Amino acid sequence: MAKYTVVTMPGDGIGNQVLPEALRLLNAVGFDAEYIHADIGWECWRNQGNALPERTISLLARHKLGLFGAITSKPKQQAEAELIPELKGKGCSYFSPIVTMRQRFHLDTCIRPCISFAGNPLNFIRKKPNGGFEEPLVNVVVFRQNTEGLYAGVEWTNPPEPVRAALSTHPKFKPFVGIPGPDLALSVRIITRPAARKICQAAFDWAKQYKYKSVTVCEKPNVLRETSGMMEEEAKAVAKQYPGIVLSSTNIDAQTMWLTKNPEDYGVVVASNLFGDVISDAFAGLIGGLGFAASGNIGDEVAVFEPTHGSAPKYAELNPPIVNPIAMFLSAVMLLEHVGETEKARCIRDAIAAVVKEGKVRTYDMMRIPGGARAIEEGAASTFQMTNAILEKLQPRASVPASPECVATGNGNRGR
Ligand code: NAI
Ligand code: MG
Repeated sequence: MAKYTVVTMPGDGIGNQVLPEALRLLNAVGFDAEYIHADIGWECWRNQGNALPERTISLLARHKLGLFGAITSKPKQQAEAELIPELKGKGCSYFSPIVTMRQRFHLDTCIRPCISFAGNPLNFIRKKPNGGFEEPLVNVVVFRQNTEGLYAGVEWTNPPEPVRAALSTHPKFKPFVGIPGPDLALSVRIITRPAARKICQAAFDWAKQYKYKSVTVCEKPNVLRETSGMMEEEAKAVAKQYPGIVLSSTNIDAQTMWLTKNPEDYGVVVASNLFGDVISDAFAGLIGGLGFAASGNIGDEVAVFEPTHGSAPKYAELNPPIVNPIAMFLSAVMLLEHVGETEKARCIRDAIAAVVKEGKVRTYDMMRIPGGARAIEEGAASTFQMTNAILEKLQPRASVPASPECVATGNGNRGR
C-alpha cells in the first residue's frame, strides 16, 4: 500500500493538461502515493447540477489530501442555460466548487508563495536612478484568510425585510432606506476573531519557520474600522509572541502601489479574503504571473493544492498543449512540503529553478509571445517539453523508482 493517497481533481480545460504532468514529476522523485481521480467543475454542473459532486467530497473527507487543476465557471444565466434539459428549471443554482470546498472543509488558510526564480524573463525589473535596470528578487508569501470576509457568500439583491430592518438601525444606512429592494445589493463582510487570529498566527509561524524578518498585515482599518480593525488588532496580539519578527501594517490600496516600488522589502503578508486574493495576484505578477503562481488551501484536517490560474479555455484544446505547467508543479511542491517530504520538494523546486535559469526551454508566456497554435512554431516549448526539461534536471534520473537522493543542479530558490 502506498504511504499517501492523493485525490486528484484536474477539473476543466488546462487543468487536465497540467495536473497529469505534475504526477509525472511526483513519480519521478519517488513520492510514494496512490492517486484517486475525482470529478469537479463545469461538466459536473451541467450534468448533475452540482460542480462539486458528493463522491469528490467524500474522497477528500477520507483521504485529506488533494491536488486540484482548475475549473471553468460562468455567470448565473449562462450557467442555467448550459444545464442538461432534465435539470433546467429544477432550481439548481451554481456555486463555485472551490469556494464550497474551502467552506465545507474549513480550508481557512490560503498560502500563496510569490518567490522569483533567477533568470525568469518575466521577473519584475525597475529602472536605476543613474541608468540601467535592476531586478530585485521577490520573496513574499501571502497568507489569505480563505473562508470569511466578503467571500463568505452572505449576500442579497432585494434583501429580506428583517435584514433591511436591522440595517435601518445603523445611522449610515439612512441614505439607502428609500432604495427599492430590487435596486439594492448587499454583500456582507464577515470577520470573526478566531479566524482572524488563526490566519495571523499561521503567517507568523511561517515567518518564524522560514526566517522571514517581517509580517505585513494588509487591510484598510482607517475605513473598514470594524472588520479590518479586527484583523489588525489580532495581528498585533499575535505579534507579541514573536519578538524577533517586525509587524507592519499597510492599506490595501497603498500596498498595490508600493509593491511595484520596493517588492523586496516584503516577507510574509497577511490579509482577509478579498484583500488577500488581490494582493497575492499583484505579487504573483512580479514573479511571472499565472504560470508561476501556486497555492495551498489548508484546513485542520484537509489540504488542497492548486495553481491559481483558471481553466484557460482558449488554450485547452491545443495539441500539443502550450500552457506553463510550473504553477501546477509548485503546487505539487507545496503538497510535498505539507506532508513533510521536504527533500523531494526541494528536488523538484531546484530542477524548476535550473530550467528557468538556463533559459533554453520556455513556454509561450515566458517568451512574451501570444499564446495559440503558432506559439510552438515561434519557438515556445510545449507543456510536455517543459515537464521533460524539468525531469531531466532531477537527479538521479526519473527511472529510479523509490526515494532517489536528489542532488541539486539548480541555483535553488532563495529564502526557503
Ligand atoms: P485563466 O487563469 O484561465 O486565464 C487567463 C489567461 O492567463 C489565459 O488566457 C492565459 O493567457 C493565461 N494563463 C492562464 N494559465 C496559464 C498557464 N498555466 N500558462 C500560461 N498562460 C496561462 O483566467 P480566465 O481566462 O479569467 O478564466 C477562464 C476560466 O477559468 C473561467 O471560467 C474562470 O471562471 C475560471 N477560473 C478558475 C480559477 C480556478 O480554477 N482556480 C481561477 C480563475 C479563473
Ligand atoms: Mg484569484
